[in-house]
Amino acid sequence: MEQYSIEVCYSPDLFPLYENKEAVVVVVDILRATSSICTAFENGAHAIIPVKTRREAMNAKENGSIVAAERNGLILDFADFGNSPSNFTKENVLGKEIVYSTTNGTKTVQMAEECKAVAIGSFCNFTVLLQWLIAQKSPITILCAGWKGKYNIEDSVFAGALTDALLTTQQYTTMCDSAIAAVDMWNTHKHNLRALINKCAQHERLRSNNLDDCIDYCLTFDTCSKVPVYVAGKIVPAKIN
Ligand code: MLT
Repeated sequence: MEQYSIEVCYSPDLFPLYENKEAVVVVVDILRATSSICTAFENGAHAIIPVKTRREAMNAKENGSIVAAERNGLILDFADFGNSPSNFTKENVLGKEIVYSTTNGTKTVQMAEECKAVAIGSFCNFTVLLQWLIAQKSPITILCAGWKGKYNIEDSVFAGALTDALLTTQQYTTMCDSAIAAVDMWNTHKHNLRALINKCAQHERLRSNNLDDCIDYCLTFDTCSKVPVYVAGKIVPAKIN
């Protein structure tokens, strides 16, 4: 059986060292962008348009778009809603196109656009993502959004969970120390993930803004059934046979 490589990139700032145009990139931003994106498509969103800057999001709002936007966790004053998964309800998103801008997640999605494919990963869509990745029969780069270029725990432990599951299939192999370290972190903490996340900086950032009510949801497997992919500037649900 042909085997494909897995690499884990802990920060968008390191992506030039990992970029492989033949790879499928999984962008992960557990607290909260990729958890929110998966939730939006589970609730029937038509498309999500990531924009890098506050100005682009503001222009979209002025032109009549629905905008979800935050910086440092807090909703931007012109936005329709912020970045908690609970904002992406059927009432808010069903059949709609959402312009989206977050502190780390949206630019991380955009930076991988020249790779073979860009998928959105979270615990919310873990199993359907795993099955979709296996079907792509390609190398995989798991790209963590981190925090303003720095490492974060929540994205890394997800990368470990996904890498561990992929390696189990025998279709993948890795010589990437960050992937191996992430698997170890996952296996050390998988039986009490919340205890690990309670230590992380983003937990404190969200808690200090009374935004930590989404954390248990963001750590729950398989609440969503879609694989969002980034194609021609828009995030849309992948067609799954
Ligand atoms: C991000 O995209 O940087 C994070 O998800 C920020 C947040 O939602 O708090």
